[in-house]
Amino acid sequence: MKNIVLIGFMGVGKGSVAREVSKHSEYIAIDTDDLIESMENRKIKEIFAEDGEKYFRKLEKNIAKWLQKSVQNTLISTGGGFYKQENLKKIGTIVLLDSPFDAIITRIKEHPNAAKKLKKRPLLADLKAAKKLYDARRPEYLELADIVIDVTDKSAKECSKELLKKVKKYV
Ligand code: S3P
Repeated sequence: MKNIVLIGFMGVGKGSVAREVSKHSEYIAIDTDDLIESMENRKIKEIFAEDGEKYFRKLEKNIAKWLQKSVQNTLISTGGGFYKQENLKKIGTIVLLDSPFDAIITRIKEHPNAAKKLKKRPLLADLKAAKKLYDARRPEYLELADIVIDVTDKSAKECSKELLKKVKKYV
């Protein structure tokens, strides 16, 4: 099995879909933000506040190199900006979770943990800036993706079923 790399904008549900996929397949799920937080022993929010985004991107780059060299047969969910890694395609099959910006924000706001979800993502603090970032990134996400899953109005379980079906062609 090749790795599966989940990409997509903040709040689109990469973590929830990853958990569903690993529940219903042999894939073990790991997450680049979780790896960074445990490596640094602090939260993403603190890394941004204390050392800035540039430092965070350096950590993502180190993780990307390690994934390519050392990780196989794994489902890797990534932070929304991780797709910029130049070796992304060498890590595995790229699956984009896609949704319109407004649907993503509604989804976050309707979540029981909405405040926490917004607070932990420094780049969502300003919604106007976040929309700009979304507009700039979306064509790049689409360009990189081997598989696109429209997650709008679908449960994580439905998305995971669709993913496992579509990914068969690539393993
Ligand atoms: C980021 C997304 C976040 C996290 C960091 C930066 C981004 O992950 O990596 O706050 O640049 O889009 P999620 O996509 O899991 O929110």
